[in-house]
Amino acid sequence: MDKIKIHGGNRLEGKIFISGAKNAALPLICASLLTADTITLTNMPMLSDIRAMNALLEQLGVKIDSFNDFLDGHETKTYSYRAQNIENLVAPYDFVRKMRASYYVLGPLLARFGKVELSLPGGCAIGARPMDIHLESLEKMGAKIEIRNGYVHASSEGRLKGAHLIFRIASVGATCNLLMAAVLAEGTTILENAAKEPEVGDLINLLNAMGAKISGINTSILTIEGVEKLHGATHKVISDRIEAGSYAVAAAITRGRIELVNAQASLLQTPLNILRQMGADVEETPNGIIIDARGKKLTGCDIMTDYYPGFPTDLQAQFLALMLTAEGASMITETIFENRFMHVPELLRMGANINVHGHASAIVRGVDKLYGAPVMATDLRASFALILAGLVAEGETIVNRVYHLDRGYEKLEEKLKAVGADINRIKEDD
Ligand code: EPZ
Repeated sequence: MDKIKIHGGNRLEGKIFISGAKNAALPLICASLLTADTITLTNMPMLSDIRAMNALLEQLGVKIDSFNDFLDGHETKTYSYRAQNIENLVAPYDFVRKMRASYYVLGPLLARFGKVELSLPGGCAIGARPMDIHLESLEKMGAKIEIRNGYVHASSEGRLKGAHLIFRIASVGATCNLLMAAVLAEGTTILENAAKEPEVGDLINLLNAMGAKISGINTSILTIEGVEKLHGATHKVISDRIEAGSYAVAAAITRGRIELVNAQASLLQTPLNILRQMGADVEETPNGIIIDARGKKLTGCDIMTDYYPGFPTDLQAQFLALMLTAEGASMITETIFENRFMHVPELLRMGANINVHGHASAIVRGVDKLYGAPVMATDLRASFALILAGLVAEGETIVNRVYHLDRGYEKLEEKLKAVGADINRIKEDD
């Protein structure tokens, strides 16, 4: 397994290009299953999760073409998807085990073909992450759902039926899956307590461009008037707010200055306000965000994760790392997932002062110095928190299990090197 080696202590200065959003791209790819026409997605990130989703769709029978593209002088990918000859309606264990988001094939395949078998994802490193809301909601739309041998067997006689669904939790995954089921259903579906995350809005924009009739975008009540057929469309994936937020912290933690090109400040208001509150300068430009912490003494502050537009759980670990270098105490409360402090024991090995209270809160006290160490994390965002700590630690940090980072951070070492980090990948066979 590859590792990342960092020599800490360099102030980061320069520009980083922010890629298309992984968590927007994954459901957008699955929306291509709703039509026999071609769906073209531009500004796609080059990530192992995208390759994994493409592999799943290919084994269902989707024809995929890819092209290299340029946005603001940076290389991006365009993919076209054609789900004309679907040969197989099974999402097998080996795919779902590697990537939970495989469950996004459930809504579209059921809506278009009336049948699907999906290996039920188990728990994961950050929590139990059940799928009960997805499944109960599909049942309310007339689907028959059975769990056998670890698989969800879903079927529907004729089209799914519109329903009034009130979600117990504003789940991103359930909102996307149910949107993709409801667009081809008979009648109107109302989705209450829907997730308002920008990635959901991006999916709604693609579905409407395909001929769907969804209203209520960016609100918690979505109304979907089912249509009989959808058609092809071309769509540009939104920029990755979590990647942008992660590099914003890289600027702040090294007391540097980074311009995040192609970042969308409107999607990051809560984390940007936290950076301002801590003492960094944050400038919103028409094409990005500039974070400037040069010569600043940052002070700690409290953060509680929440649904959008609240503070994103996917930036909690990175901001916790930043608090280690701020003056005073900070309290971090995680409300979305029940096991999302797995980075803490690793940061403690680097000299951090953190007290976790139960599963939900951590008190972080700023320290004068962090020290490099071999570390490993159990998920994507926690791994980035370790990279951040490594960037300011004295000496060498080796981050193990780099495959987590490859799932969600495109060209990580290249981007950080370009702004002055001393970071290298050690290949497995080196
Ligand atoms: C999405 O996960 C993201 N993943 C996550 O990003 C992100 O952390 C999360 O949304 C919250 O913003 C993708 O988009 C691929 P949820 P998702 O359903 O959709 C509970 C990353 O690092 N729940 O909104 O799985 C669930 O257990 C990843 O990029 C149920 O109880 O999240 C959690 O506590 C990690 N029953 C809460 O809801 C259900 O049926 C929110 O989960 C569904 C969810």
